[in-house]
Amino acid sequence: MGNQVSKRKKKVVKKGDSTQPQEPRSSQASIMTTLESTQAAAVTLLECTMLGLSRQYVEQVQELHYLFKHVFQRNCMAPVDTLLTARGAQCLDIGCGPTATWIIDMAKEYPMTEFTGLDILDVEALNTCTDTDSDNDNITSLLPRHIPSNCHFKQGNVLETIDVGLVGSFDHIYQRFMFNVYPMDDTMKPKFKELADLLKPGGYMEFIEPDMMPKQAGPKYTLLAKALYDRIKPMNNQAVFHGPTIKQCLVEADLEDIQSDYTSLPICWGGYVGKMLYETTVSILIKLGPVLWPALDIDGEYDEQTYTDFVDQAFDECVEYKTYVNFHWAYGKRPVVDTVNKEGLTF
Ligand SMILES: C[S@@+](CC[C@H](N)C(=O)[O-])C[C@H]1O[C@@H](n2cnc3c(N)ncnc32)[C@H](O)[C@@H]1O
Repeated sequence: MGNQVSKRKKKVVKKGDSTQPQEPRSSQASIMTTLESTQAAAVTLLECTMLGLSRQYVEQVQELHYLFKHVFQRNCMAPVDTLLTARGAQCLDIGCGPTATWIIDMAKEYPMTEFTGLDILDVEALNTCTDTDSDNDNITSLLPRHIPSNCHFKQGNVLETIDVGLVGSFDHIYQRFMFNVYPMDDTMKPKFKELADLLKPGGYMEFIEPDMMPKQAGPKYTLLAKALYDRIKPMNNQAVFHGPTIKQCLVEADLEDIQSDYTSLPICWGGYVGKMLYETTVSILIKLGPVLWPALDIDGEYDEQTYTDFVDQAFDECVEYKTYVNFHWAYGKRPVVDTVNKEGLTF
């Protein structure tokens, strides 16, 4: 089918049409590719992904934000509406992305709240670029011109010491599509606890991630997904930080009232949802060709045309097998009476 959505999946979705595949349930995501967890590696990969991404790709990422907003009918799942309506409330978005689409959308929705976007990229510098700073294909020309005044950015690596505010200062911490960032080793439990400690008592932390293993996938798409999963998986074979593991991360961060669920989205079929997910995923898979190639059981050195054909056939399978991806969400609340505090320790 080439890099096109086949006619079978180009059906125009009428209002009220279900875009859900059978059996699966509901949720959200996009995909990106900082496949390593060290800062140096992250920067290298960012250079070849985020900063090297085409205008088309960045547009897709922005569109996905609105797709997921449409699918969930809201910007976040945690019950933070009242908290964020109070003057001086604080919200932290970890890995806000160079387009900062979620945080900017939220800052408009909750003008009383101060929003901080943390990213390993210098998002503010990207946002202050003008078209004349770059050629037309550069993603900087796609960043919003008007950033709400209650929206602030901090450059930093979430895996290192985070300098975003005092312990106990945030009403809401949000993190979406960071599946390639956290190594699920012994350092992660204290890291998620450290993030949870940034919450005010009664504040919420929320994670949204895709399940890296699609459901009802054909053999070729399964190979590609597994190659990506194995690439993200830490060398020590520990769990991957992705949809199915996010709830446990909140449990280990000692949060309470934890809620979680997922939404299933079709890939490459099922109307415009499947089309958008296909378009984003295919861009990533094509970019990662040389990285994923060795896991595909294809003879010889990496060959772009052979790889592209393989990816096309994999997406044709998605139409045939009705492949879908589960996007998980989970949120938890910092106890109002802090357990650490109850033990007489300061926090
Ligand atoms: C897939 S994007 C997610 C963007 C945004 N959260 C969204 O939902 O559209 C992942 C973001 O995480 C950032 N990132 C990657 N590693 C990071 C790290 N160690 N610390 C902070 N940000 C990181 C990347 O720069 C990128 O902007």
